[in-house]
Amino acid sequence: MLFFIFCAAVHIFSLSAAECTRELLQDLTASYVAALAAGNGPSGISGLAGPDVSYIENDAPADIAAGLLSVGIQIDFNRSIYDTTQCASYTEIVATTDLAYVIGTRLALNTDNKIAEIRSNVCNSGDWLFNAKGSLEYNSKETWDSIPEGNRDTREVIQAAGDAYIDAWGDDAVKPPFASDCARLEGGSYISGGNCLLNFPPPFNITYRVYTIDEQLGAVDIFHNFPFLDTSIPRDPGTQTNNFVRIEGGKIKYIHENTVCSKDNCGR
Ligand SMILES: *[C@@H]1O[C@H](CO)[C@@H](O)[C@H](O)[C@H]1NC(C)=O
Ligand SMILES: *[C@@H]1O[C@H](CO)[C@@H](O)[C@H](O)[C@H]1NC(C)=O
Repeated sequence: MLFFIFCAAVHIFSLSAAECTRELLQDLTASYVAALAAGNGPSGISGLAGPDVSYIENDAPADIAAGLLSVGIQIDFNRSIYDTTQCASYTEIVATTDLAYVIGTRLALNTDNKIAEIRSNVCNSGDWLFNAKGSLEYNSKETWDSIPEGNRDTREVIQAAGDAYIDAWGDDAVKPPFASDCARLEGGSYISGGNCLLNFPPPFNITYRVYTIDEQLGAVDIFHNFPFLDTSIPRDPGTQTNNFVRIEGGKIKYIHENTVCSKDNCGR
């Protein structure tokens, strides 16, 4: 009997130690965003990150000390989603000052609930349709409220909608579930009124998909490659992008695209 109680207690303790809650992800993400604003370098996240945190900017490993945490970004807007299944968050950040940026960052936690990986797409002047003031204006007008519990889509439905949006680019047999008022914020440009469908000349091979999914906010972010857009980069693999998609009742309502270019506006 004593033995049984002991085992049960150990079991409960180990479960709670590994549990990834929304509150934990919210707190940790808010602290990361505050550290970006403070600009004190890696020491700003020393209490949040694991010892061997991996730091990735624009799909390549980068020196965390030389990265965004040392800039001191004047943040005008931030929006986050939380994936309790993968223990990860995704945050978009808009800064419109002299050091203008639109940044998408995914934080992935380890089993000790410390940041194991920081992955950012960093867009600034010269990136695809970059216009931070436009990003701020259009993004801040959108409504990404919590979806009432009974109306939430499953992870599978949310991911499938995001994948269909991307898969349709190179395959017109794929019909993404767009809402009639679907809108896309592409860099700082806004396309509204349901005109969200894109098609490009094949072949079109979109790889490196890294997902963050939040059922409560009806959202998926996908970091992936974008063949064809950047005229200086071969189609395969293409340049780095991420698409952040809001889904309501299975339909795509908003899309935010953040694409990095190797030269001014991807040479177009
Ligand atoms: C991020 O956004 C939240 C919610 O709008 C806000 O309360 C917070 O101050 C923002 N953080 C920074 C560093 O701007
Ligand atoms: C798609 O891209 C991946 C990664 O670059 C590559 O391994 C694969 O062969 C490509 N597939 C096609 C059909 O081009």
